Amino acid sequence: MIVFAIESSCDETAAAVVKDQTEVLSSIVSSQIDTHTQFGGVVPEVASRLHVENVSVVIDQAIRQSGLTWDDIDLISVTQGPGLIGCLHVGVQAAKTLSMLYNIPLVGVNHLAGHIYANKLDTTLQFPLLALLVSGGNSELIYMKDENSFDVLGETQDDAIGEAYDKVARVLNLGYPGGPKIDKLAKLGKPIYKLPQPKAQGEYDFSFSGLKSGVLQFVKRMERQNETWTMEDLAASFQETALEEIFSKVRKAIKNHPEVKQMIVGGGVSANSRLREKVQELAAQHPDMDFNVPPMKCCTDNATMIAIAGEIAWNNGRRSDLSLGADAGMEIQ
Ligand code: KG4
Repeated sequence: MIVFAIESSCDETAAAVVKDQTEVLSSIVSSQIDTHTQFGGVVPEVASRLHVENVSVVIDQAIRQSGLTWDDIDLISVTQGPGLIGCLHVGVQAAKTLSMLYNIPLVGVNHLAGHIYANKLDTTLQFPLLALLVSGGNSELIYMKDENSFDVLGETQDDAIGEAYDKVARVLNLGYPGGPKIDKLAKLGKPIYKLPQPKAQGEYDFSFSGLKSGVLQFVKRMERQNETWTMEDLAASFQETALEEIFSKVRKAIKNHPEVKQMIVGGGVSANSRLREKVQELAAQHPDMDFNVPPMKCCTDNATMIAIAGEIAWNNGRRSDLSLGADAGMEIQ
């Protein structure tokens, strides 16, 4: 099956052509990051407008780069949600127009399923598995008994972890996106400052907003009391607390689900060097399990993952038509 896919849930306009879930015939990603950097974060209205400007160019490049024509495409797959509503609408409308124009079947898919299936480009999925999704918009721990079966064990009750990194970076005047900058600083520091321990209610849920406020209060207190502190040590302290919030739940999930064969990771925060180290530590403790953190180009938003998720959803009976609408809060199921 040859799938043409569109992704526009946040600040990347992307299109791709993928054959049989493995062969990437083309993948175009137009990032808006330079524009949003000027505002210190993604501005939804600006993001939607840029998607409108870019989407037809990206679609045209993706079909050309694939060397195919629309006659060769068997399915059009598009991110239906979750994401920024205005952004999602652009991709969904473009996909519906292509489906109508070229008479190609359409399927709307979940962005998180895309992040999970991005791992297929790098490894063979082994079920049951645990998927950890960590990005600027999502923080979820998902149990998959089998293909196309998603059981959300836990999720953030407030900010996504990437959002917390970005907000802490803003407090420290590091610029956007903050994650890579804090990651770099943290390597030079030690986690010596005591910050508020997150308190999420559910067994596997996460919380980051108290930690984020704790960083702001720490800086204000130090300045008020004229005490010396270092950005490196504060970055390391924040990072260690935030990642431990996630990994304490991951360890518990592995312990309570001994049948799990594999753990996979997705989303932009999986670029984090300390997160990758923590996955390695887990792998050393569980030699019977497989652990996979895909290369960065698979972790960040792209349309290749939406093509793979689309084919799997289609094979499992999911169908969409011209009534398909964007769904900002779409649950994975
Ligand atoms: O998945 P993604 O590209 O976009 C969406 O959120 O949809 O993730 C972007 C997020 C940002 O919050 C960014 O700060 C974070 O991923 N990020 C990182 C690192 N690289 C990117 N966070 C921590 N450490 C990193 N090295």
